[in-house]
Amino acid sequence: MERILMTLLCISACVWCDEFCGGADYDPAVAMCCNETITTPVPNNPRCCGSEAVDVSFYMCCLDHVNIRPCGEPDCCINNAFDKTTHMCCNGKIRSRPSTNSRCCQTSAINADHFLCCDGIVLTRITEFDRCCGESAFDPDTGICCFGTVHFIPDGVSKDNYKCCQQTAFDSSVHKCCHGETYVKASHMCCDGVVIATPPDNKCPEI
Ligand SMILES: *[C@@H]1O[C@H](CO)[C@@H](O)[C@H](O)[C@H]1NC(C)=O
Repeated sequence: MERILMTLLCISACVWCDEFCGGADYDPAVAMCCNETITTPVPNNPRCCGSEAVDVSFYMCCLDHVNIRPCGEPDCCINNAFDKTTHMCCNGKIRSRPSTNSRCCQTSAINADHFLCCDGIVLTRITEFDRCCGESAFDPDTGICCFGTVHFIPDGVSKDNYKCCQQTAFDSSVHKCCHGETYVKASHMCCDGVVIATPPDNKCPEI
């Protein structure tokens, strides 16, 4: 009954009234109510972090976990705070930055100047142009990637002519691709997905 009266008094704009927190009275001038818990008073910049009140100039809240605020550029890595200028968050793990050109590979941090991350595997770069091909790396100047398989461009074949035919590669100046099968374009043709010797009329036979 008393509580109902108090509440009614509060609703009717009584500034001296306490507020309720988790069913208990508290004075909002002194403490905060965080997750229905009355907090210990924090003098400056208080914010709720889970059930605690913290001074956000010294603390950082990451998913309701209180962390000491890092210097630099603070950020959260799941529950933990870190400085983005020196560290990075790789799939939930805090890692130190190996270089100014760093990236994550699964939970590792790699120097992207010297390493590649191919399907989550760390590979050493041979050249700065290396690219991933499935779980391996290749240099696009000397090879091509066909559905995750690397093929080295043979001597005498121009890079522009070397093409993929599903997982295999072929010299398109001589061959064509017919549903994963390569054939000599001068003598054969692809009819309904089947390679045949080119008929005298140069047309696919009627079925
Ligand atoms: C809020 O309080 C409840 C009960 O004490 C607790 O189980 C829960 O973890 C708290 N939530 C946060 C975000 O701190």
